[in-house]
Order: sequence, then structure tokens, then C-alpha cells
Amino acid sequence: MKNLEFYLKNAREKGYVIGAYNFVNMETLKGICEGCHRSKSPAILMVSEGGLEYMGTNFVMNLFESAKKEYKLPLFLHLDHGKSFDVCKKAVDLGFDSVMFDGSALPFDENVRLTKKVVTYAHKKGVFVEAELGVLAGVEDKVSAKDNLYTDPQKAKEFVEKTGCDSLAVAIGTSHGAYKYKGKAKIEFGILKEIEKMIPNTPLVLHGASSVPQKFVKIINENGGNLVGALGTDAKILNRLAKESHIFKINTDTDIRLCYMATVRKFLKEHGAEIDMRKANTLAIEEIAKFVEEKNTKAFENNGKI
Ligand code: G3H
Ligand code: 13P
Ligand code: ZN
Repeated sequence: MKNLEFYLKNAREKGYVIGAYNFVNMETLKGICEGCHRSKSPAILMVSEGGLEYMGTNFVMNLFESAKKEYKLPLFLHLDHGKSFDVCKKAVDLGFDSVMFDGSALPFDENVRLTKKVVTYAHKKGVFVEAELGVLAGVEDKVSAKDNLYTDPQKAKEFVEKTGCDSLAVAIGTSHGAYKYKGKAKIEFGILKEIEKMIPNTPLVLHGASSVPQKFVKIINENGGNLVGALGTDAKILNRLAKESHIFKINTDTDIRLCYMATVRKFLKEHGAEIDMRKANTLAIEEIAKFVEEKNTKAFENNGKI
């Protein structure tokens, strides 16, 4: 099986990106893998600190191993937004393929110091390290920032040289969660180009990249939900980034949540007497699979790349 290094280079050469999807249970994992199976795509399966707490390490590792056995795809396990050296060390020791140390909220020097510490530890065990510079707006369980602070291209160069990180997450206008923009999506392509000029050999990562499909928002709202003004990054923008930029990994969590909740909410409203959760979950797995297949194919240019 080809490794992460291979896909990282291949994605850059061939103009596609690797979808990085968060999973929190068997249903989300199965839906993501089924979608990747249909589009024949390599994928990065991400577990956040919150996800690690929710599932517990044994479930995470065994679910991941089961997914690899079941689907025989190039699947890589990644720690998403590790906020401390200890949680990154824990993921490395557990056998994750890749960890993110997110020191983006720290002062520059402290971010450098801790990223370097994670890099030194992870590299001894052959584990890939993603770091972050700049701050994304948005609020999630353990990831929050009030305002966007774009990545400074000059600082990015210094950061990469000092830390030796393998990839860098950049802040260019996206944000986490379902409420990304007040009006239209605004991505700073100019800043991205500057970053790419400064660190031409560093693979880049885009967080907060969900598209927040309005069809899911509508279904949620028609079935008891209350998502007002939810807006994401258009798939066309992601496609442009996939084809033209040095971004090789694009993160999606919110869209999976929306897809799952829309399907389950609709089912429950229509089947008031049903108490077998497998019925709703089977539909949710199928909807996630369809969503991921389409995302890999249409937005990420990642079909048939295994
Ligand atoms: O970027 C963050 C991910 O969406 C994880 O969110 O901390 O709610 O699991 P979480
Ligand atoms: P979204 O909230 O846009 O899905 O972003 C997910 C993410 O960046 C996970 O690290
Ligand atoms: Zn993120």
C-alpha cells in the first residue's frame, strides 16, 4: 500500500487534494469509507481531541483497523487539532499515521517551541506532523477563535524552517463550523499565493472547508432544526484550490454532521413509532457515502486516485 508521503506528492503533481474527514462513530466512519470506496479515493480519517474522548482510544484504533480491513483503501489516521504535546504523543504512541499540533492560538515563539517538540518526537516514530500558523474564525468544542488572523507569509517561512513540520495549515478566510461567512465566501487567494512563494516545498492544509450544502440545512430546518444563516465555502472554490494550489489536504467535519443530522431528523419525523435506530443510521450512512463520493469527485478532483 502506498504511504501518505506518496499521496501528498501525487496530489500536488496531479492537481487533486486528499479529503480529510472527521469521524466520531461507526456510522460516520462507514459512510466516509463507503464514499471513498465508490470514488476510489485515498482518504485521511481524522479524530479530534473531543472525538478521542468520546470514542475512547480502543474504539478509535479498532474502528480504524476495521475500516482498513473492510475497505482495503489507502486510509490514514490523523489527530485533528492536538492542542498539547501530550495528546500528540499519545496519538503517536497509539500508532496514528499523522498528528496535527495546533499551536495557532499561542504566541509565535511558543508555537514554534511546542511544534518542534512534537516534530522531534513524532519523526522518531515515522509519524507525519501538521502544524498551524494564523487563526481561523469560528467556534467548535475545542477549537475557537473570534476573528480571522490570516497567515503571514514571511512568518510562515520562518515557522517552517524553525520547526521542520511536514505540512502547514493556513488561515486564508475559511472558518470552522456551519456559519462561515456573513455575506459571500471570501478566500484570500493573494495571501495563499504569497505563502506558496515563501514556502514552495511545504504542502499546505485547508481547515474549515465545509460547503454547508443548503439542501441539508433546509431538511434540518424543515424537520425541527433551527440553523439560521448557515453558510459554507462553495465547492467551486475548493475545486479551484484542488487544481491550482499547494493545498494537498482539505478538512471536512461540519458537512458530515449536517448530512447525518438531516437524514436522521427527517427519518424520525416521518416515522414517529420507529425505535430501531439502525433504520435511521443505515440511511445516514448511505447519505454520507453519497456526499463523500461527490465531494471527492467534484470538489477534490480525487477519483480513481488509489
Ligand atoms: O476542526 C475541528 C473539528 O471540526 C473537530 O471538532 O472538537 O467538535 O470534535 P470537535
Ligand atoms: P469544517 O467545520 O468546515 O468542516 O472544518 C473542519 C476542520 O477543519 C477540521 O479540522
Ligand atoms: Zn480544523
